[in-house]
Amino acid sequence: MSGTSDIADGGPKHVAVIMDGNGRWAQARGRPRLFGHHAGAKRVREIVESCPNLGVKYLTIFAFSTENWKRTQVEVAGLMSLFRRYITKEARALCDEGVRVRFIGDRVQLDRKLVSLMDELEGMTAHNDRVHLTIALNYGSRDEVSRATKRLAEEVASGNLDPADVTEETLTKFLDTRVLPDPDLVIRTSGEARISNFLLWQSAYAEYEFIDTLWPDFSSEIFANLVGSYGKRERRFGAVPA
Ligand code: IPE
Ligand code: IPE
Ligand code: MG
Repeated sequence: MSGTSDIADGGPKHVAVIMDGNGRWAQARGRPRLFGHHAGAKRVREIVESCPNLGVKYLTIFAFSTENWKRTQVEVAGLMSLFRRYITKEARALCDEGVRVRFIGDRVQLDRKLVSLMDELEGMTAHNDRVHLTIALNYGSRDEVSRATKRLAEEVASGNLDPADVTEETLTKFLDTRVLPDPDLVIRTSGEARISNFLLWQSAYAEYEFIDTLWPDFSSEIFANLVGSYGKRERRFGAVPA
């Protein structure tokens, strides 16, 4: 037993997931939306733990978008408190499982306590390399590209960067995802076939899977199946197949 499956070779190295459908899952049970968010958070560990066997080295999950502030104060506050609790509760297990955790998104609008927990978790898992888990929290692609462009413009204004040297690679270095490879596969649960401002630049050539399952019903079996069917796809990156 090597511990890795057949999927590993031709499988996706980086999978990104839009974890959608928590609210509808709760509503279907006559419960408040936050009940769905709590159920959804519980699904994450099983998916992270299944990554090494599937050959998935990078997992990026969408937890809160820059547009999610439009929700009620009760839901937003409940989500922020869930994130604080989740990090506190899961930190040890993630670290022991060899997971390296990173956060992407704008931290400026987040409360100081949450940001310090995020920093702490990134620090305590920085030596890990078994799975790279990236949590998108207050993340939006347009916001990320705007922030990147602002910093790039500052470099130009201060004379450190010649506008003639601005290439795709240059801009990529200013993105929150600068150390991550591009996603190979993007999964969205809950039946919505849209991207909702998630990794737009990075997923230009990703494969997409839109599935009806609501996030709290997502399982490692469903994940393994999606990762498995990825291997049957032919990615062309604009070229003609040989
Ligand atoms: C996704 O579930 C989680 C977050 C956006 C925080 P939703 O809360 O969007 O659930 P639905 O789409 O309303 O069912
Ligand atoms: C995307 O889901 C954001 C997260 C999963 C965190 P949304 O539920 O916010 O997206 P829309 O509003 O349906 O496009
Ligand atoms: Mg939704």
